[in-house]
Amino acid sequence: MKIDILLGLQWGDEGKGKIVDALTAKYDIITRFQGGPNAGHTLEFDGAKHVLHLIPSGIFHEGKINIIGNGVVLDPVVFRKEVESLGLPLPVIRERLLISVKTHLIMPTHRLLDAASEASKGDSKIGSTLRGIGPAYTDKIARSGLRIGDITSSDFMSMYRKRTTDHIRLLNSYNYSFSLEEIEKEWFDCIEYLKQFSTVNCEYEIDTALRNEKSILAEGAQGTMLDVDFGTYPFVTSSNTVAAGACTGLGVAPSKTGEVFGIIKAYCTRVGSGPFPTELHDATGQLMRDRGNEYGSTTGRPRRCGWIDLPALKYAVMINGVTQLFIMKADVLSGFDEIKVCTSYKVRGEAKAELPYCLDEIEEPLYVTLPGWKEDITKCRSWSELPQAMVEYIGFIEKETGVAVTIISVGPDRSQTIFR
Ligand code: GDP
Ligand code: IMO
Ligand code: MG
Repeated sequence: MKIDILLGLQWGDEGKGKIVDALTAKYDIITRFQGGPNAGHTLEFDGAKHVLHLIPSGIFHEGKINIIGNGVVLDPVVFRKEVESLGLPLPVIRERLLISVKTHLIMPTHRLLDAASEASKGDSKIGSTLRGIGPAYTDKIARSGLRIGDITSSDFMSMYRKRTTDHIRLLNSYNYSFSLEEIEKEWFDCIEYLKQFSTVNCEYEIDTALRNEKSILAEGAQGTMLDVDFGTYPFVTSSNTVAAGACTGLGVAPSKTGEVFGIIKAYCTRVGSGPFPTELHDATGQLMRDRGNEYGSTTGRPRRCGWIDLPALKYAVMINGVTQLFIMKADVLSGFDEIKVCTSYKVRGEAKAELPYCLDEIEEPLYVTLPGWKEDITKCRSWSELPQAMVEYIGFIEKETGVAVTIISVGPDRSQTIFR
């Protein structure tokens, strides 16, 4: 067996949580391989809505195993709150959830450092979710992070103090005022809570599962344009959100990866700072925000909205080796007279179909215009029920990217999913 990878091809919030939940029935194991509580993955079923930050989106399904991989950064405080908010009995969650011993911990000082660093940047701030992601990954790469496997060590407290001392020095250099006592106490309480969950060597766990013919889905967080190497640097997150990240974030060889499912919204959104070539600052953008309820699942911030961006999408398809495309939130575009698709960018007066080094070099996006559709599609459950103009829009995306669209999502509920 091979491990399938599902990831966002835009700037995050494409609807990964919804579709992972809808696909979980087909898999034995669901894993997260990067990111941390900056993610907010929304699932809706049986009239209830759940937002997951750290726990893989397969957690609500009986008999499925969910693994938090080594590539994730885990905040024990967020973790505890999330476990307690699931509405599932604790023994059930403990049975369904495994955590890699190599997963790095987000410390209270990481959260403070995130805030201090953003405050120091003024107008050029990243727009971070302030969950401590950047500082935790910084420590990981600097070889000074704390991992889940350390929490049972008799040295854990001294390791913690050593890191914190360094962090405090840095916080003082930012002239950042803070008080640690209370958040530190809460953090240690949550470390104790964490100890009741099973930890594993994720790489062995997955290897054994694959040998035993188990099917595995890796659930990406954020999106390709937020990747630390290939996104709109420096306005990115601090992990590799691309398909290759699943290999390092779980300990899986590239030869053992299978399908790569790329998820896109039928339009485009971004939350936080940084370039967004097709962003709309007008009433059309506001209409997308209103109809799509485009407010961040983690921070509640309004998401910036715009038309679909094919040069960025083709880039994401290339980097990830996408084998199937899923189009989410197609229902949000119902009622628009026309749909615009950015097919190239004007850079120094010339049309370019490739992403320039710096997206700020883009003078304007160049669009083709396709007819819109008026029909409400939220009740459609088969491909043949979709309006002709929408089928043409999908066909245009398929032709341009060279990848087949195999799922269309027509609403936030698990049932509002059309498999082709
Ligand atoms: P993720 O981070 O990729 O999991 O996406 P988020 O959960 O942050 O944001 C997607 C939002 O769109 C959530 O509020 C979902 O409930 C919602 N959603 C997902 N699919 C659809 C869809 O097809 N139509 C509509 N209208 N909403 C959707
Ligand atoms: P999901 O998994 C959308 C954005 C932040 C900010 C930048 C860096 O729900 O799609 P960070 O907290 O990582 O330091 O923030 O990345 N960002 C996301 N945007 N969806 C996400 O996750 C995001 N996670 C981080 O807004 O611009
Ligand atoms: Mg989200």
